[in-house]
This record gives sequence, structure tokens and C-alpha cells, in this order.
Amino acid sequence: MTLAAPVASSPPVRTEVRGRVLLVTIDLPPVNALGLGVRQGLAGATEQLATDPSLAAMLIVGAGGNFVGGADIREFGKPRQPPFVRDICNRLEASPKLVVAAIQGAALGGGLELALSAHYRLVLEDARIGLPEVLLGLLPGSGGTQRMPRLVGVPVALELMLSGRHVGAHEAVQIGLADRLGEGMDASTAGLAYVEELLDANAPRRPSRYATAVRCDAQDQAAISAARDAQRARNPLLLSPHLIVDAVEATLHQPFDAGMVLEQQLFQQCIDSPQRRGLIYAFFAERQAAKVPEANQGVARAVNEVGVVGGGTMGAAIAVAALNAGLRVTLVERDEPSLQRGLANVGKVYTGLVSKGRMTQADQNALMSRLSGFVDYAALGFADLVIEAAFEDMAVKKAVFAELDRVCKPGAVLATNTSYLDIDEIAATTSRPQDVIGLHFFAPAHIMRLLEVVVPRRAGADVVATAFAFGRALKKVAVRAGVCDGFIGNRILSVYRRAADYMIEDGASPYEIDDAIRGFGYPMGPLQVSDLSGGDIGWATRKRQAATRDPRQRYVQVADRIAERGWFGQKTGRGWYLYPKGARAGEPDPEVLAIVQKERSRAGIVARDFTAGEIERRYLAAMVNEGANVVHEGIALRPLDVDVVFVHGFGFPRFRGGPMFYADTVGLGQILSDIETFAKDDPHFWHPSPLLLRLVAQGRDFSSLNAASV
Ligand code: COA
Repeated sequence: MTLAAPVASSPPVRTEVRGRVLLVTIDLPPVNALGLGVRQGLAGATEQLATDPSLAAMLIVGAGGNFVGGADIREFGKPRQPPFVRDICNRLEASPKLVVAAIQGAALGGGLELALSAHYRLVLEDARIGLPEVLLGLLPGSGGTQRMPRLVGVPVALELMLSGRHVGAHEAVQIGLADRLGEGMDASTAGLAYVEELLDANAPRRPSRYATAVRCDAQDQAAISAARDAQRARNPLLLSPHLIVDAVEATLHQPFDAGMVLEQQLFQQCIDSPQRRGLIYAFFAERQAAKVPEANQGVARAVNEVGVVGGGTMGAAIAVAALNAGLRVTLVERDEPSLQRGLANVGKVYTGLVSKGRMTQADQNALMSRLSGFVDYAALGFADLVIEAAFEDMAVKKAVFAELDRVCKPGAVLATNTSYLDIDEIAATTSRPQDVIGLHFFAPAHIMRLLEVVVPRRAGADVVATAFAFGRALKKVAVRAGVCDGFIGNRILSVYRRAADYMIEDGASPYEIDDAIRGFGYPMGPLQVSDLSGGDIGWATRKRQAATRDPRQRYVQVADRIAERGWFGQKTGRGWYLYPKGARAGEPDPEVLAIVQKERSRAGIVARDFTAGEIERRYLAAMVNEGANVVHEGIALRPLDVDVVFVHGFGFPRFRGGPMFYADTVGLGQILSDIETFAKDDPHFWHPSPLLLRLVAQGRDFSSLNAASV
């Protein structure tokens, strides 16, 4: 009997001697993150360089299309084992032999810090370089805050670290982060040629710690002060941006090694912060959201030609999103004037960008050349995917789908952008319900990243897979939702908005509500949002729901009184707030307060005070409880799907992870006990979700449900 030899897994770091150069390849899919095995491999390679007298230089590259995607994010918060990246970086930088990095794809976070410790950096055309730690609630902790400013100067380093943005190859060379733009797409070949060239020229070692771009002058100091003020204004609740500024400031006043010590202390503060946990949770949650059962069951259909029915604000913005993704778009409207308006709506978005200097006229022309418009549905015969963005009315939708059923080719995906209608009912009117799905974009559709993929009962797995692939092509964060009124996001929103309305009628002013919710970390309060999106929309929904509303449900009429006056928010100059002379930031309106007071009297309510803390508790308890119902009913696959919806579509502060993650940090027992307390006054509204009750009884949290594999 012969036994098959065990398959040896290849080491995460390979070394090969190529003449006088040690070629070091980091090879750990998916992104060559700097986990323990990679760190050990790099430490070993450093040792080999130091001890092998035949070697004159080291070249570091990554396999699989990326250099290094950063530290292994999964390790943060867990006990970490040496060797540490910062020590490897220090050793490489101090090496008496030449160290060169050749960067293909991502060199992010610890990956860039590794490259910054090399003496020379070559970038290939597709390089994406950056220090995105701020987006995870961290700061670069392996010398990045000290080396980057010394290489590119304080203002540029601050901008890169505080935005976390990725720099392309050309910009990297231009700002001095990289020394050479390499040709071709093979980092080892281009890198080895570069190293040989450097060796032949006797190029000196260039430790970044001695680079001189920090000028220590008034301009640098001014950049630090400006960054500090900007962060205080923009991100008052976040920790890591402020600490990044502190760490960079050290480059002005302290020697390199002292700066490294400070960086370590500040890094540890970030690691210990709950914000770091929330932000890292959000990073993985948005990637987990794409893992839906259908992804393993069906293969996505190819989508090159997209049809959009309806050229209103939403349809036009969807067309823009598809054009931006490089797709061809056919817009269909019911008549010529509507079509011209629709095409103009698309053009307006690009003209705005051109006038702001964010796009060239040539780019606009190229994008618009992929757009065509027709008043005949037959034009959609070639479309691989059609998105209906017509008027939100079941009869209208059914008429559109009848046309689509008639003209679309077999295998075309037929999607509706409805925000609440029953997609099972729409699908059932076609001869191909397996091809029908919901693609619920959020306004403005070319900017907001959330896309709810609403899956009706009979949708094919390949159609769901196509919807997710389409979302990814559009750079959206797609979340799977089941069919119900409002799907995940709007359904939960309607519940916590009611909680806010109840507080207003019970004594909180609308402005206190908004202040409290902004204090929690939202960029805007719910009433500001209502004024921005237009009070007429919610008013129409409430009128639609009036006939079927449970008579036991408490109904607050303040918003109706405001809407009846034609005060729809910013577009009409007043809503919950006043917007004198087209101002974008509203002012509190005494007349709104008088309306609120009148409604309280009409309802026989004596106003009481609410603290910001109580407003926050009620608002979030309502959100979390309905989030639990949505998971309980299978509308959302997991709590993390609810979190992703709220972070990407509703302004929930990302550093708190999302409502369900936040609930775990508060403790589900606490949330339940709040709901039971609130229920004493209004048991109909405050009704604990069966899922919340079950988890509390079992001593579990929402995160325990996220682990469920799909
Ligand atoms: N540590 C651990 N896992 C990582 C990782 C890291 N630094 N970077 C990416 N991953 C994982 C993702 O979770 C994903 O895992 P999954 O397939 O199990 O879902 C996989 O790698 C692919 O990542 P994804 O983002 O889907 O691939 P992409 O090709 O679109 O983008 C990157 C690649 C590297 C640009 C992107 O993953 C990224 O920005 N990563 C984080 C970079 C970062 O912040 N580094 C600093 C860390 S301090």
C-alpha cells in the first residue's frame, strides 16, 4: 500500500538567490497580510541577507497581484507575537546592504510601512499605496507616522494619513513616495532590473529616517495646527485622527527614535479603544455581507448592457452609477419630453463635476457616448439587466414589467428599484419570475454606497449572484434583503422615526432630538434628514399607510401639520427648520415649536423633559428591536447585514459598528430592560422582539449569529 505524501503548504515568504540579489516573495493569499508566518519569513530573509556574503541586495515583492495589503487585521486586539513589523522595518532600513521594494497592486498600511523601510521603491502602473489605518480607528504603528513625513513632507503626509486614501503609481512618484515607475506587470522582473541598475551605479543606501522633507518651519507647524482644527471640527468623536496629528507633530520636534516610541504609545491607545473594534467590525461586515447562500449556488450572468426605465432623479442617478462602472446604458422614458429631461438629468451630474474641476469635458463626452435614450421599450431587447425606476405605484410597476417581459431577451435580469412594494407580486405578473429581483438604490444613487438586493421567493440563484456582481462593479456595498414593506433599511427607519415622533409629542423639541442623535455620531439628525430629502415623501407614505394603520397604534400628527403648510424642507425654504435665503444649515423655527405645542395640547399631553441620553436610548432601542425582528423573520440574513445597511445607507456612525454591534457593546440585557421600561407607557409600540428575548435568555449576543456560515 502506498500512502500519498501530505501536500506541503508553501511558505508565506519565499527567498531565492538571483546572482547577488536575494529575491523575497511574500505569498499569502488573499492579500499577503503581515500575519505571524509572514513576519517570521521576513525576519528570516533579513537574517539571510545579513549573513550571506555573496548577497549585495534584497528585493521584496508580493505574489498574486498585490504587494502587501497591510497588517493582518484579524490579529488586532489579540495577543501578538514577535517578530513585529516595526522591528523588521528597523532592521531592513539599517541593513548595510541595499533593500528595494517593487510594488504591484496594494501596498497598504503595514505593507507600505515595510516598503518605506526599503532604501528604494519601484511602483508598477497598477500600484495602490496608502496608510488607511485611520479608517480602522488606528494609526500607522510600524514607523509610518515618522518615515512618511520625512519622505514626502508634513502637509502631504497628514493629508494621506488622515484621509486614508490610496495613491496611484504616478502620484506616488510625483510626491516622492516612490522612486521609479516600473514597466510591465511583473514586479520581480522590473524590480530585479532596477536593483541591478542601482548596484551597478553604486547607489547609496537611503534610510528613510534620514530623509529631509520635514522642514520644521512655520509652514509645517501651520499644517499641524490646521489639521488639528479640521479634525476637531469634522471628527470630534474620533480618536485616531487626533493621535495621528500628534504623532506627525513629533517629526518636527523629536528625533526619529523618540518619535517611534511616541507612535507606539499612541498606537496602543487606538488598539485599546472601542472605536477600533467598531471600525474593524465594519470592515469585515461589509465583506461578509456579500457572502450569501446564492453566491455558492449560481454563477453570475454577464452584464455589459444595462437598461434603465425612468429618467427621474433616481433613474438618472442609477444610469450615472452604471456609466461610471464602464457599462453601456439605454434609458427608456414614456415620451420624448420625459426622455429629454431624463438625459438632461444624467448630463447635469457630469456637467456639475466638470464645472467643479473633478472631471474633464473629454471624460464627460466619453461617458455620455455610452448612454442612449428611447421612448420605445423595444430598445431594451439587447439589455442584460434592466432596472425599472418608474413611479412608485404597483399598477405602474406591473405595466412596466409586462413590457419588459415582452421585449427583453431570454436570460435578461429584470430588476425593480421599488423601495417598499411587494416584489413577489411584481414577479408573479411576468412569465419569468426567476429573473426578477429588487435593486434598491439609495438617493443619490451614484453616491450612496448601499444597495439592497431584494430577493423575491422565486428568484434564481444566478440572478442573485448577478445582482451582487453588478453591485460590486458599481462599487456598491450590496446587502441581501427579503421582501417586506421597506425591506431592511426603510422598515427599521419607519419604526425609530416613530420613536422620535413620540418623544417630540411627549416633550422633546425636534432640535433636541437632532442634537442628541448628532451627539451619538450621526452627521445629521433625523429631522434634518427629513428636510433634506423632502417632507412630502414621508407625508405621501403616511397617507398611503393610513387605511391599513392599526388603530391601536399611536399616531403623531406634527409632521402632517408641517407638510400641510407646504413646508417640505430645504427645497421649500422651511420644514422642521428655517432655511433663509436658500441656506443649507437650518435654523430652529419658533412656529414649528408652536405647532408641536398645539399638537401636544390636542392630544392632551403635558410635556416633560428628555435628556440627550434618554433620547439616544429610546431611539436606538427602537432601531435595535426592529433590527432584531428583521433578522428573526429572515428579511436580513444576519445582524451584520442590518449593520451594513445602517452604516452605508443611513449615516449610522461607522465607529460604532452598526446598531446591532452597538447593542452588543451596550449589552442585550440592558437594551431589553430599557424596552420593558418604555413598554410600561406604550406596550403596543414597545414590544420586545422574539429574537432579543431568546438571545437574552440564552446569554448570547447578536455577533454570535454572524458566525453562522452561508
Ligand atoms: N488583513 C486580513 N485580511 C484582509 C486584509 C488584511 N489587512 N486585507 C484584506 N483582507 C481580506 C478581506 O477580509 C477579504 O477576505 P474574504 O475573502 O474572507 O472576505 C480578502 O482579504 C480580500 O479582500 P477584499 O477587500 O475583498 O479584496 P480587494 O481586492 O477588493 O481589495 C485590498 C484588496 C487590500 C485593497 C483591501 O482588502 C483593503 O483595503 N484591505 C485593508 C487594507 C488596510 O486597511 N490595511 C491596513 C491594515 S492596518
